[in-house]
Amino acid sequence: MKILGIESSCDDTSVALIDITGNKINILAEKTASQIEIHKKYGGVVPEIAGRKHAEQITPVVEEIMKDFEKPDIIAVTSGPGLITGLIVGVETAKTLSYLWDIPIVGMNHIEGHIHSVLIENEKEGRKRNINFPVLSLVVSGGHTEIILSKEQGRYKKVGGTRDDAAGECFDKVAKLLEFDYPGGPKISKFAEAGNPKAIDFPRPMIHSKDFDMSFSGLKTAALYHLRDHPNTDKNDFCASFEQAIVDLLVSKTLKATKKYNPKTIILAGGVSANKKLRNTLEKEIKKVSPQPTFTFPLLPYCMDNATMIAVAAYNHAKNKKFTAWNKIQADPSWKIYNNFR
Ligand code: KG4
Ligand code: ZN
Repeated sequence: MKILGIESSCDDTSVALIDITGNKINILAEKTASQIEIHKKYGGVVPEIAGRKHAEQITPVVEEIMKDFEKPDIIAVTSGPGLITGLIVGVETAKTLSYLWDIPIVGMNHIEGHIHSVLIENEKEGRKRNINFPVLSLVVSGGHTEIILSKEQGRYKKVGGTRDDAAGECFDKVAKLLEFDYPGGPKISKFAEAGNPKAIDFPRPMIHSKDFDMSFSGLKTAALYHLRDHPNTDKNDFCASFEQAIVDLLVSKTLKATKKYNPKTIILAGGVSANKKLRNTLEKEIKKVSPQPTFTFPLLPYCMDNATMIAVAAYNHAKNKKFTAWNKIQADPSWKIYNNFR
């Protein structure tokens, strides 16, 4: 089945064409036009500008992806959650192509895409990613921090998540205090490599709460006050201690959920899953749990937003004929993965 994926929920205009049968995913073409250079000037994504840029980029990117191929069998488009200005561009493009080519659309949930990003392999690494249910997913990005349980394919239950900022947002906002360019998460983790994670005792809000929820805004404020009161603080130590606090929160709540729900597979996905400290700590801690679940995370290029994961995640819906008519599909900026299908 040939699936054209379209992703434009934040600041990446991404299009991919895959051929998928059973467990075999063949990526025929993929391209992401990033807007980071534009949003950098503003220290974050400006929705109005993002929408305009998506509108400019989407047609040339689709043209480039399709230049050597006939029409696909299906279009998979992110219809939520995300920025409405970007989602609309992707959804309207999908509608037009669906009408033109007379092929069905699968309206995809962005978080469901991130969860399926772990299925994407490349020839160099060729890791087999067998997913056994129940699956517990920690999806951490600039917009989301959620722990999600799936007892079967395509069914999702919210276990916990952030009560305020997303973990990636917290990384980016604190990076801004350090005058790092947006998105600053990767730069914080780079500085952290040379620092002492115990140098500053940052708070870990809600770490001892009985539920699986987290909070990051208090940590962000503590980071702000620390920099105000210690202007000459060692940047490496600051980054290492701050990163450690985020990792501790994410890992402790994921482990707590693991002990309660006994998943067979644990997935770490979303932009922050690129963070090595988080990957390594979670892997190490999961090994201590008995019976030990399989731990998996995406290849680096698929941690960030990309259309390939959207196309891959759409496959099961397409097999079950869960399509949305081109004249019915709508962008839904606050679509929760555990509510329903589109
Ligand atoms: O999934 P994504 O591309 O976009 C959203 O859906 O939000 O995630 C981007 C986020 C940004 O907040 C970025 O700072 C963060 O992922 N990020 C990292 C790292 N790489 C990306 N945060 C911490 N450490 C990293 N290595
Ligand atoms: Zn994302």
